[in-house]
Amino acid sequence: MEKVRLICFAMALSTAASTVFAQERGSEADGYLLAQEVCAECHSIESGMKFSPNFLAPTFQDIADTPGMSGLALSVWSITPHKTMPNFAFSQEERADIIAYILSMKSK
Ligand code: HEC
Repeated sequence: MEKVRLICFAMALSTAASTVFAQERGSEADGYLLAQEVCAECHSIESGMKFSPNFLAPTFQDIADTPGMSGLALSVWSITPHKTMPNFAFSQEERADIIAYILSMKSK
C-alpha cells in the first residue's frame, strides 16, 4: 500500500513539474525576435557582446555561459518575480523560445 501511495505521489509531482517547466524545445529564431523586442532595451542580446545597455544587466552571452545554466534554471528564473526587471507575462511558448535562444549562445 505504501508503495502505491508513493507511486501516485511521484506521478502527481511529475505532472505538476511538466506543466510548469514544460521543456518542449522553443524556436531560437522566434526567441531572438522576442528578445530584440522586449529584452534588448537593457540586455545586450547579441553573442560576443561585453556590455549591456543597462550596465547592471548581464549580457545574454554572460547568462548563457554561467556555469550550470540550463533550460530548467531559466524556466525557474522566468516565472520568478524579479526586483530590477519588469515582470513579463509570456506564454509558455514565448518563454521556451527565449530560453532556446539564450541557450543557443552558450560558448563554453
Ligand atoms: C528594464 C531593464 C530590463 C529588461 C527589459 C530585461 N532585463 Fe533581465 N535583467 C535586468 C537587470 C538590471 C538584471 C541584473 C540584476 C538582477 O539580477 O536583478 C537582469 C538579469 C537578468 C537575468 C539573470 C538573472 C539571474 O538571476 O542571474 C536573466 C536570465 C535576464 N535578466 C533575462 C531577461 C530576459 C529574457 C529579458 C526579456 C524577456 C529581460 N531580461 C529583460 C534588467 C532588464
